[in-house]
Amino acid sequence: MKKKSDWLIPAGLILLTLVPSLAGAARLAGLAQGGPVTAENARFFGAPVAVSLHILGSFVFGVLGALQFSPGFRTRNPRWHRMAGRPVIVAGAVAALSGLYLTAVFPHLDTDGPTLFSVRMAVGTAMALSIALSIRAIFARRFAEHGAWMMRAYALGMGAGTQVITHLPWIIVTGTLPTGYTRDTAMAAAWLINIVFVEWRLRRSVRRTNSVSYSG
Ligand code: HEM
Repeated sequence: MKKKSDWLIPAGLILLTLVPSLAGAARLAGLAQGGPVTAENARFFGAPVAVSLHILGSFVFGVLGALQFSPGFRTRNPRWHRMAGRPVIVAGAVAALSGLYLTAVFPHLDTDGPTLFSVRMAVGTAMALSIALSIRAIFARRFAEHGAWMMRAYALGMGAGTQVITHLPWIIVTGTLPTGYTRDTAMAAAWLINIVFVEWRLRRSVRRTNSVSYSG
């Protein structure tokens, strides 16, 4: 039986990736054109391979990964889930590792606060680690655990989409982009919201499974 959540979940997740995907497409187009190089974008032209890998990896992880979270689609197409899962995992690892690389090599921007570097390092490491643990769980055939780690990795990756939402209140009220600690807070809040949401969903599904098995 097809349920509304079968398409609502991937559609919502793909919508979340929309703004970062468009920003990424614009950046790739600029890199492909070779310029103009300005003070604002010089860092991207200084690391074109890492930036391109980051954007393409994030895009594949965001869009193809979204389909993996449709419960009905996954159950009806287990072969597709396995086939598409491989590029999703590779793309997620590329997005996380290139994100860490960019964090390490890009100069500190005046608009960023003092905590963003550490937060990005922690998030990139946690995302890469979640993907590694999800792979380990597949090899051990612990599929529920694999799914839980992939959900965590996806939630951390999709912080890029939630950041659009956490920046909005400040932009609407002040008409400017946040800077300093305000920007760091808007960035960190997005990752926190996503991971708290996923942990809540995971705990809720464990409670449901337990109550079904007790009542049965
Ligand atoms: C998987 C989801 C992600 C998406 C969709 C995404 C998307 C993007 C895009 C489109 C850009 C280019 C921005 C521009 O051209 O102005 C970018 C830059 C960047 N990303 Fe990600 N990203 C993701 C994950 C991450 C993670 C997990 C980290 C942290 C380790 C990270 C760190 C960075 C850094 C440091 C930059 C350069 C920012 C700058 O200097 O302006 N990204 N990302």
